[in-house]
Amino acid sequence: MCGIVGYIGKRQAAPILIEGLHRLEYRGYDSAGIAVGNKGRLKVAKRKGRVRELEALEPQKFRGVQGIAHTRWATHGEPSDLNAHPHSDTSGRYAVVHNGIVENAAALKAQLGQRGVVFRSETDTEVLAHLIALLDDGSPLETVVAEALRRVVGAYGLAVIDAERPDTLVVARNGSPIVLGIGDKEMFFASDPAALVRHTASVVHLDDGEIATVRADGYETRTLDGAATIKTPSTIPWKDEAFDKGQFTHFMRKEIGEQADAVRRTLSGRLDTRFHTTHLGGIELEARDLLDIRRVKILGCGAAYLSGRVGAHLIEQLARIPADAEPASEFRYRNAVIERDTLYIAVSQSGETFDTLAAVQEIKRKGGRIMGVVNVVGSTIARECGRGVYLHAGPEVAVVSTKTFTCTAVALALLAIHLGRLRDLSVANGARLVAALQALPDRIAGILEREPEIAKLAGRFQGVEHAFYVGRAAGHAIASEGALKLKEISYLHAEAYPASELKHGPLALIEPGTPTVIVLPRDDLYSKSLSTVEEIRARGGPVIAITHPGERPAVDGLFEVPALEPELDPLLLNIPLQLLAYHVALQRGTDIDQPRNLAKSVTVE
Ligand code: AGP
Repeated sequence: MCGIVGYIGKRQAAPILIEGLHRLEYRGYDSAGIAVGNKGRLKVAKRKGRVRELEALEPQKFRGVQGIAHTRWATHGEPSDLNAHPHSDTSGRYAVVHNGIVENAAALKAQLGQRGVVFRSETDTEVLAHLIALLDDGSPLETVVAEALRRVVGAYGLAVIDAERPDTLVVARNGSPIVLGIGDKEMFFASDPAALVRHTASVVHLDDGEIATVRADGYETRTLDGAATIKTPSTIPWKDEAFDKGQFTHFMRKEIGEQADAVRRTLSGRLDTRFHTTHLGGIELEARDLLDIRRVKILGCGAAYLSGRVGAHLIEQLARIPADAEPASEFRYRNAVIERDTLYIAVSQSGETFDTLAAVQEIKRKGGRIMGVVNVVGSTIARECGRGVYLHAGPEVAVVSTKTFTCTAVALALLAIHLGRLRDLSVANGARLVAALQALPDRIAGILEREPEIAKLAGRFQGVEHAFYVGRAAGHAIASEGALKLKEISYLHAEAYPASELKHGPLALIEPGTPTVIVLPRDDLYSKSLSTVEEIRARGGPVIAITHPGERPAVDGLFEVPALEPELDPLLLNIPLQLLAYHVALQRGTDIDQPRNLAKSVTVE
């Protein structure tokens, strides 16, 4: 998705902005651009393609201590040099970078066209630059920008530079994040803290409807109506090194390998071996409140939704509370019934996914009780929920989620045990599950050491165009996540089904060239799943099983995961499927960290 970065201070802006754009590359984009102000003029460079293609235009040489830059993910208008941001007014005095969508762009374009404005791009953003130019009556820049934004319907995170106001940049937020970074006599801003960590850990998150005047020596925030707002800086908990690939070829592989440590951090301080339960301070709900809960509803998108499905299964099994997960992107539009005794949980790695945020706002509007399970501290969903559980998984740079899928499922397992121990989960079962969670990081590390076995299994996908992933109960959620990983990075068609549903339709597609990956724990459904294996193999379909040690099932390929405790086994069965997808994609030579058409954080509808 689109990214914004800005700088004003004592150093040359261009190198800082270009480096910031590189930090934002992981989010997915199709063009990039930069505007730097110097001596009453703006120098602008923009280009379709990667930041390194923008660098070929040598914007690094632009002189000036004030600038804005952008990575674009096309919404209005194809990816092209002209449609790339920044967009300028006719005179070239003002430039704007914008994340989000101006919904009334057509009407504004018509009004501006009547006043003689000629548009150079197909974007909605260009109207903002012309509007600001027409409205500038010499008032402070923030007043002019606020006046322009009052005429805009839609979502935005945006930044404005005026060549003739060299000591000021203006940023504003409505539905798309903007974070200010506080330096020493210099200020930064970005749509994602990843672009700031190299320079400062001290940040201020703008809220919707806020506009900020940013100068080298500080910032002021106010509402669009001009009322001053007071912000408290917070600290980004991430180190700059976390954004480096280190010895790895891909961030995805690095992040898969970080899972044992990431899970340790998710668990840290949250296991109680005295009462054989868990502590989750951030949920800020008393035991008495939690006892009133009659239903749990988990909402998220993509991999976050799928980890929510694992969590819902755990909550239902361990706490005996009816629980389910639903894509937030569906929930937000279906005028859902919100119940006062339901606990709603929003799950999001980035904390910025627009559909999930919209679901949270809908639940809050209707008076529902919401908490977040989020990785990025201080992100919009975390702040909107106001309570919840942080994953502490560290930054996830690869577009596909791996460590945060696992850590989210672990965080929900902690909640399941907590809710269970308030109800009928016995001391003995609590102790057994807490001990299993303590052992989890080492078990994950053990699986990761056996990567060559999985690389060999990946060889079975050579020449394949379609694959099925099946499992039962939580195993179906794990199979769905395995299929999602495979299709995202290898571009193979992979479909997940409940193993029980195969014979009700998809079995028609089974043939020798179509492998089926089955999640096959040795639980009480094992013998049922073995029947599924036989049904597939009887039709010539090769089967690869992710299973537990024991008497080997008759399959065509197999990886054995050490058994933990039956309820928590899904957390481990997921790990080999991540590696499998990675190695299939490696063989196929795809762009693993930045798969085509995808973005790390989907901040538009
Ligand atoms: C999964 O590999 C993708 N990164 C995607 O499905 C993602 O999980 C989804 O867009 C939700 O993102 P979030 O966790 O940041 O809300």
